[in-house]
Amino acid sequence: VGELYPYQIAGVPAQRVVFSGVGKTAQEMAQAVELGIFSFNVESSPELDVLNEVAISLGKRARVALRFNPDVNAKTHPYISTGLKKNKFGMNRKEILAVARDFKNYEALDLVGLSIHIGSQLLNLKPLSDAFDRVSELAAELDLLLESPLEFLDLGGGLGIRYDQEKSVSIRDYTRLICKKFKKAKKKILIEPGRTIAGNSGILVTETVFRKTRDQKDFLVVDAAMNDLLRPALYQSFHGIVPVSERHTQKSAKKKKTDIVGPVCETSDCFASDRLMSTELTTGDQVAILSCGAYGFSMSSNYNTRPRPAEVLVDGSKFRVIRQRETLEDLIRHELV
Ligand SMILES: Cc1ncc(COP(=O)(O)O)c(C=O)c1O
Repeated sequence: VGELYPYQIAGVPAQRVVFSGVGKTAQEMAQAVELGIFSFNVESSPELDVLNEVAISLGKRARVALRFNPDVNAKTHPYISTGLKKNKFGMNRKEILAVARDFKNYEALDLVGLSIHIGSQLLNLKPLSDAFDRVSELAAELDLLLESPLEFLDLGGGLGIRYDQEKSVSIRDYTRLICKKFKKAKKKILIEPGRTIAGNSGILVTETVFRKTRDQKDFLVVDAAMNDLLRPALYQSFHGIVPVSERHTQKSAKKKKTDIVGPVCETSDCFASDRLMSTELTTGDQVAILSCGAYGFSMSSNYNTRPRPAEVLVDGSKFRVIRQRETLEDLIRHELV
């Protein structure tokens, strides 16, 4: 519901929202039931029990899609792989069929969909293709079992973007695959792209605090840290880093392998290792960390008691500050003692 709240303020109709997650609390469910969201993507039978009770107590009905864990290897970083049976997400085929058989016992719930999300930053369509086959088969089985056939299939998100030299999947190939796999199903298809839309639309601009050389190794210590951009520390992800001033990007600029690191007392507070950067980059010079539009600000925190930076929207030659830089006062705003 932390995501639902800004949607409400922005005027997004609740009827366009799906709510996924393995640990929805009764309080969160109640807020979403009240608003009448499009679907709860339910991940376990205990969750169905609670959702049913919540809906009954509010005198409302809730629409449900069961989240299927198809047990396919998304071949992405283990921390963002979600469709293997060892992962915490979703239910397996057997569980889903068992739940569907007795679904009428949930008097306030309507089973209207089946959902999957097998992982993020997928660079190959094969795992998605395998997952789609399994969803198709299961949806057909469910249609035979249920009084009314499923209304929709929610295929999740997951398409990878280009951070480095990787070849991302083309959206055309992805949509073609969906059409091919689900043409016969004749159901509404939902997708939940996240990173594909936002990932390459954002950069993090940071300023060099010190250039430091030790034992032949150069470090650029910058004023952004792992609290601002967690991805490299969390899953060793690659982000392109370029100096803001063209002076440092010219071919003639002398370059050296450099580590670009933050100021936090964690060795993992490192944005890049052995990156070829101009030797001239020094205190006050800015660099841009690329591809920060997804899982950047949204994963940021105040770790190390650090206020977060401003967010600036750039539109052609115009810009607008859309979130203020946090102040020291903001850091203690909620402390009571
Ligand atoms: C259920 C669900 N759908 C969609 C997404 C978006 O994934 P991506 O940004 O990889 O497209 C996520 C990301 O964690 C998710 O958990």
